[in-house]
Amino acid sequence: MSKEIYLTGDRPTGKLHIGHYIGSLKNRVIMQDSGAYDPFVMIADTQAFTDNARNPEKIRQSLTEVALDYLAVGIDPAKTTIFVQSQIKGLFELTEYFMNLVSVARLQRNPTVKSEIAQKGFGESIPAGFLTYPVSQAADITIFRATKVPVGDDQEPMIEQTRELVRAFNNAYNTDVLVEPVGVFPPKGQGRLPGIDGNAKMSKSLGNGIYISDDADTLVKKVKAMYTDPRHINIADPGHVAGNVVFTYLDIFDPDKQRVQDLKDHYTAGGLGDMKLKKHLIDVMEAEMGPIRARREVFAKDIPAVLSMLAEGSERANAVAEKTMKDVRHAMGVDYFN
Ligand code: TRP
Repeated sequence: MSKEIYLTGDRPTGKLHIGHYIGSLKNRVIMQDSGAYDPFVMIADTQAFTDNARNPEKIRQSLTEVALDYLAVGIDPAKTTIFVQSQIKGLFELTEYFMNLVSVARLQRNPTVKSEIAQKGFGESIPAGFLTYPVSQAADITIFRATKVPVGDDQEPMIEQTRELVRAFNNAYNTDVLVEPVGVFPPKGQGRLPGIDGNAKMSKSLGNGIYISDDADTLVKKVKAMYTDPRHINIADPGHVAGNVVFTYLDIFDPDKQRVQDLKDHYTAGGLGDMKLKKHLIDVMEAEMGPIRARREVFAKDIPAVLSMLAEGSERANAVAEKTMKDVRHAMGVDYFN
């Protein structure tokens, strides 16, 4: 029996942070290693151009950074097809055909796109490609006939849009060549790692992120700067756990849940200092991120090898995509000369 296909990806607009790692990359590796899937992981450079059209150098540089982040966390090119979106020409073709099956009004209702538009301050100058990127994302997913899409909660509207487009396509051309995917979302309460400043979103523009590639000293510095409880002034004062970023991180990074509970009790009662608590967080984070960082450094020594890995993955992905496109063209009746 053939394995279920999952597909997911990331825009190359910078290095990936530990929010990506906790919310998505870690789960991809677990799914990859389960052996139950045929995984595809895509560096979404075409999508990155939708809001970085005039910054190709950033995309080009981020491409290798993201690939290194993948390899470092254990996405294994022997098990996962790691590829680059722009190299799959069928994606442009399928996107163009999908474009006619969705209304402008429907695109304008996408809540994730809406909030991104507000946040990026496009004003009256929303790039057409940005408004329509969910259509291109639907092509990403369906061209590989992926049934599962492991993503963060913010991507839910994209999956819904994809499902609608699959139905619209199959209906319009009286076919069943495309399959409806489902999203695989992080477990509740584990979806999003806050920034070190306590902001719910970790992002480059807010400068509150910890990166997979951060060295040990940077990790220490960032944890020491982490937002805790402003009311906890003296060590003896009772502290608060809710909204305290150090505890949010401990909940995720400390494998010993009983120990975390004991620390929470101690902190709440008073007598546990922030510095001592942060030292412990540094230890448990370093235990997880240290080996990842070390692997990244090894891969970073041979960038040409990383690029040929991506080239091979793209070739493999292209072969799969072309098979679907043959069926798509046939269903639409545009295979005139065959
Ligand atoms: N929109 C995704 C993000 O910003 C990246 C992406 C592009 C993607 N194409 C995809 C994710 C297809 C899942 C499936 O992170």
